[in-house]
Amino acid sequence: MTHLHLDSDARSSLRGLSERIRGGKTNVEAPAAVPAAKPRPVPVMLAEEEMDREEVLVAPRPQAPAPRLVIDGASRADKLASLRRQAETWAPAQALGTLREVMVFATGDPEARLMLIGEAPGYEEERKREPFVGPAGQQLDKILKAMGLERAAVYLTNIVKFRPAAARQTTNNRPPTPEEIAACLPLLREEINIVRPQCIIALGGCAAEGLLGAGGNIPALRGSWHDFGGVPVRVTWHPSHLLRSTDDIATKRLVWEDMLAVMELTGLPISDKQRGYFLPKV
Ligand code: URA
Repeated sequence: MTHLHLDSDARSSLRGLSERIRGGKTNVEAPAAVPAAKPRPVPVMLAEEEMDREEVLVAPRPQAPAPRLVIDGASRADKLASLRRQAETWAPAQALGTLREVMVFATGDPEARLMLIGEAPGYEEERKREPFVGPAGQQLDKILKAMGLERAAVYLTNIVKFRPAAARQTTNNRPPTPEEIAACLPLLREEINIVRPQCIIALGGCAAEGLLGAGGNIPALRGSWHDFGGVPVRVTWHPSHLLRSTDDIATKRLVWEDMLAVMELTGLPISDKQRGYFLPKV
């Protein structure tokens, strides 16, 4: 659980408690200091001026040791189903207290040659429990179509399997933190082990950071091959970057050059027309 709803009764009890503590009329003990080794900031709001807020972030709980993943099943689909069941209650992610509860796993073909990895589900993905179904997903579908691929022909997943939480969250999303990426990485590692794709596309800085530990600097990382456990990795911009980009065609061409490299590696046919996409008109 990442948020608590405080109704007016609860807020008024907390206000009274706070006043009694400050007035010295009670022997309620001050909270113990947080030991240095415990995880990150403690964004619990106790100051009176914060009491009227509807949501309170709960302090991250101490990190539990990562449980061992035991994968059952003969086919890749069965093995992924086994992993998915374990991901639902993945203790290292839950222990952070900064990720929401609904797990969004993956979609596509368990036998795919190509795996695409994004950062984390957002509002739309959480609602539909499927990765890349919002605006960034529509942009990704266009890229796949230009490559001659259907969404169902690839394997689409995220480095973090739960939507990152934020105070008073409605449709707003935030990128995952390094701690959230690290907590979910064992799940992604197992997914890659099961699917054994011929090639991985890391979409955006978070995916690159998680897979390669490389600082997530896309201009420095794109345009060449990297390696994750023996699987070639191509890093490129996240589709949402293309939605925001002002030098539209130039960035689209660079992303497309990464896709051409992936098509060559995976043996997809490439027409002359495809080779010329997003080149300046002469
Ligand atoms: N952005 C991502 O990185 N993943 C999604 O699933 C949706 C948006």
